[in-house]
Amino acid sequence: MTEPVLLELADHIAWITLNRPEAMNALNGAVREALPRAIRAAEADPGVRVLVLRGAGERAFCAGADIKEFVEVASPPEYRQQRVHDSWIGAFDQARKPIIASIHGVCLGGGLEISLACDIRIAADDALIGLPETGLGIMTGVGGSQRLPRVVGMGAALDMMLTGERISAARAREIGLVTRVVPRAELHAATAALAAHLAARPPMAMAFAKEAVRGAMDLPLREGMRLEVDLLTLLLNTEDRLEAARAFREKRPPNFSGR
Ligand code: COA
Repeated sequence: MTEPVLLELADHIAWITLNRPEAMNALNGAVREALPRAIRAAEADPGVRVLVLRGAGERAFCAGADIKEFVEVASPPEYRQQRVHDSWIGAFDQARKPIIASIHGVCLGGGLEISLACDIRIAADDALIGLPETGLGIMTGVGGSQRLPRVVGMGAALDMMLTGERISAARAREIGLVTRVVPRAELHAATAALAAHLAARPPMAMAFAKEAVRGAMDLPLREGMRLEVDLLTLLLNTEDRLEAARAFREKRPPNFSGR
């Protein structure tokens, strides 16, 4: 049986691939189980410094929830049970390492929600991005309505959620939904280069900078400033800070240990 999610490690990078190309990598129960497992495994592996999420096949990053599983209305006890457990998307929020979403082709619904839970979104110029849920009589369920306005502002978020329209990669970059767009043929190389760049930087500075910026979305300014200074104080006591300064003085590339 093919694995619904692949996890491959190379040069400090964990490549996590949604692997249902025949269904445009739609999120079924198997993917929702395997994806957080892959994220947690990469997060726990001391050899991994950066995670990349991508979709298998030519046509899609992810077409969202598997509509073929929408055959019956789930019972209220089933939903209550789901709420008792941490949502599977929580694995992204708990990850301290940077996560890159490498988006090509279709990126709809839950696919966009997953990418919003990542830290940097890079897209191929063929990407088509949208939230079709309201047209199906439902709405986002794993953070889309909360994360999208934090990334693009309320106006663009409401436009996307209420119209369900798909936007191009160029438009997505215009509104800040993705920060990098490259030709389709260059997506893999550009993603690998970005991941390698992050992997060569001091891991603790990556984790704390991520925590601080994500904190900015949830905290009042005073508390956020306090968090920033606390995290900086911790970084000032790391070996990697000294290594960066030594390498600068010695005019050589730094070699960070993560300590
Ligand atoms: N769930 C389950 N299967 C999906 C899927 C989804 N969300 N999206 C695509 N697929 C499957 C199709 O059923 C088809 O498989 P089949 O031939 O075995 O039926 C295959 O992927 C290719 O899709 P197809 O619709 O033939 O390609 P297309 O190029 O005509 O359209 C999409 C592509 C993505 C625009 C279209 O499939 C679509 O609108 N999908 C639903 C997206 C959506 O609403 N997601 C949010 C759900 S909340």
